[in-house]
Amino acid sequence: MKHSNHLQEIKGDVHIRTIEEDATLGLLSQPRSIPPKYFYNATGSDLFEKICKTKEYYPTRKEDEILTQYSSSIIDQVRPVNILEIGSGSSIKTERLLHACNTVDCFPTYSAFDISGDALLAAKTRLDKKFPWLEMSLLLGDYEAGFTHLPRVDGVSLVLFLGSTIGNLARASALVQLRALHGYMSSTDYLLLGYDRVKDERVLNAAYNDQQGLTAAFNLNMLRVLNSRLKGNFVVDGFEHSALYDTYKQQIVMRLVAKSNQKVKLEKLSADFEMQVNEVIQTEISRKFTIETMGDLLSEANFNVVQTFSSTDDYFSLALATCA
Ligand code: SAH
Ligand code: TRP
Repeated sequence: MKHSNHLQEIKGDVHIRTIEEDATLGLLSQPRSIPPKYFYNATGSDLFEKICKTKEYYPTRKEDEILTQYSSSIIDQVRPVNILEIGSGSSIKTERLLHACNTVDCFPTYSAFDISGDALLAAKTRLDKKFPWLEMSLLLGDYEAGFTHLPRVDGVSLVLFLGSTIGNLARASALVQLRALHGYMSSTDYLLLGYDRVKDERVLNAAYNDQQGLTAAFNLNMLRVLNSRLKGNFVVDGFEHSALYDTYKQQIVMRLVAKSNQKVKLEKLSADFEMQVNEVIQTEISRKFTIETMGDLLSEANFNVVQTFSSTDDYFSLALATCA
């Protein structure tokens, strides 16, 4: 079992819409939108890793800096028997925690849960080499389906939700997710939640508009995903990337903007549609928090923040919380 690259498919209790249903709901009505989970095909996961390395996209580096500094103290405090990571992606930052486990003689198992099988398999190949003691399981599924069917391990779990992925959900959905996690967790478990902080809008806008155009490519790749999965005819060059911080709502809004009028046909949907020049499809929001707004969100989901770790510039924070 230890070295098997087996993807365990996780189903949940909550109904998950098919891509046809999501596209029908999102694209055929105004304002047009599509859920961000469809970004993450193999190309999308790969582009995301490249975005994380750009000079403008600071969250990954800042979160890594915090984990480098505090992992030993977190692991020493929690002493997990299992680490469960939601939306684990490449699991690169997780290595900081795994190294800390080594140094404090704590050898938990690691369950990585993601919607991208490619990302899970790549992470396992790398971690197997670096951490020969690690038993890692690959859980493939959609966290919006809930956590009722996730395997439970006896003893303390440390649940990781990193990368400010929580910020990609509207407040109400974030609350649903956190409550579902709370329901899955036991009273001795800990949640370690990474979130991006409210800051100067120039820093935020730059982070989602890198000069190499990787975020633009990532955003536009959504159209390729839709073309291949829904037999579509989106002309990728007919759109451009837009990402702009809304200071009032404290969120980045990412969109695809039609550069000219577009006639769109997606064979797997019942209707065709037209987009006028400058019309948009919203692909993602990325919410930014203060320690207080995150504290409120967590307490509404019945979590109790025991400690907050921040980067020295307060760009990014990690909340360590228990189930209140
Ligand atoms: N935790 C990593 C990756 C963050 S990107 C980091 O901090 O760098 C968001 C990750 O969540 C991606 O790996 C993506 O595949 C995954 N993801 C997005 N929507 C998901 C969903 N609905 N269910 C499960 N995983 C999802
Ligand atoms: N959770 C990340 C964030 O909100 C996801 C992300 C980073 C992202 N860069 C992106 C999503 C660019 C789409 C496009 O920062």
